[in-house]
Amino acid sequence: MKKLADQVTFKHGATINNRMVQPPMLTNSGLNGAVTDDTLAYWDARSNSAGLMIVEYNYVSPAGGPAMTWADDRTQLAIYDDKFVPGLTKLATTMKKHGNKAIMQIAHTGRQANYRAHLGLPVYAPTSANYSFLPYGVQAFTTAEVEQVVKDFGAATKRAIDAGFDGVEIHGANHYLIQQFFSRFSNHRTDKWGKPDAFPLAVANEVFRVVKKYAPANFIVGYRISPEEINPDSVGYTWHESTKLIDELTSQFDFDYIHLSMGSYKEKPQDSEKTFAELFTPFLGDGTKLIIVGGVMDQAAAEDALKYTDLVAAGRAQIIDANFSAKVVKNHGEDVITKMSDQEEAEQKVTPGLREVFDQKTNLPDWGKTLSDLDYSKAIKVTAD
Ligand SMILES: Cc1cc2nc3c(=O)[nH]c(=O)nc-3n(C[C@H](O)[C@H](O)[C@H](O)COP(=O)(O)O)c2cc1C
Repeated sequence: MKKLADQVTFKHGATINNRMVQPPMLTNSGLNGAVTDDTLAYWDARSNSAGLMIVEYNYVSPAGGPAMTWADDRTQLAIYDDKFVPGLTKLATTMKKHGNKAIMQIAHTGRQANYRAHLGLPVYAPTSANYSFLPYGVQAFTTAEVEQVVKDFGAATKRAIDAGFDGVEIHGANHYLIQQFFSRFSNHRTDKWGKPDAFPLAVANEVFRVVKKYAPANFIVGYRISPEEINPDSVGYTWHESTKLIDELTSQFDFDYIHLSMGSYKEKPQDSEKTFAELFTPFLGDGTKLIIVGGVMDQAAAEDALKYTDLVAAGRAQIIDANFSAKVVKNHGEDVITKMSDQEEAEQKVTPGLREVFDQKTNLPDWGKTLSDLDYSKAIKVTAD
């Protein structure tokens, strides 16, 4: 019988103290991309809880972010330049101080880099478009620019190694650039990057090249994916295609884990009785662990989720209660803080940027407000392809 308190050893040899994961979550604590004291205080408070902690998505190229950002001192974190390494080193040291493992999520936000549009800088995507859901246009990368972004994922991995992180997670989920390439809704390219799996495979190849060259042998590499992209009036891909991609990724590369990004850990597609966790498990390959996430807010849900997976991630629960994972691992679910209040936010070291968007009634962040309230009058006009 699996228990939340079990130690788990990954394929490359790293062992974590329990089966709980803090999934990557934007803290809006960056100062033009750099780690701040707010970032460190937030992670210091959470460093003795989940066995595996994944830092929010850090953008790997200058044009890869910031997204969901509305001010210079409320930005997403960045890893596109060596100048960020000293701050990231402090972050890794803070996270690891109790012996839990720290993972860096590496990402390019592509069309979601809203703060660039606000500043009048170009925003890139696989294909040029004026999407109805974005208050600015996005322009296609040239072939050479795509190749540069692939290299940027490698350089970011090297920086994460230098900063002392225990691993990296490739962000292939949540409508960001890797998913934008994988989706037939957003990728209409006619060069080699028009093949949906070309970009995810190239990024994985580059990340593993750098890991083999520079990282310790037990360095952890994970991949996060959204099982499906079903838009209101179009389909980007279904689980039939995403399981094939995971099959390709895990047969070509030695991933330590695959992380399914979901709103509910029990989520199912429309055309199957099985959960996504059950549908993806056969494609993991030998020894690759599964992480699932979505709606784990108490002891019972954490234990129930464990029936479907190796590792259970709890996101908002870890924002509300910095010690959520530690409490459920010790079977002390009754001590979990379940509601945010102004006093709790301060005690739990929720960053000021996150406090501004976190809705205490729904326990959900209200990103829409931050996206649409910005002035986009400087945004570059784009002709759709
Ligand atoms: C404030 C906030 C920020 C998030 N930022 C990221 C992120 O940086 N990268 C990512 O892959 N997912 C991100 N997510 C999604 C979470 O990792 C997680 O999948 C989601 O919150 C569902 O889990 P939960 O119900 O336990 O909160 C974010 C979610 C929240 C609430």
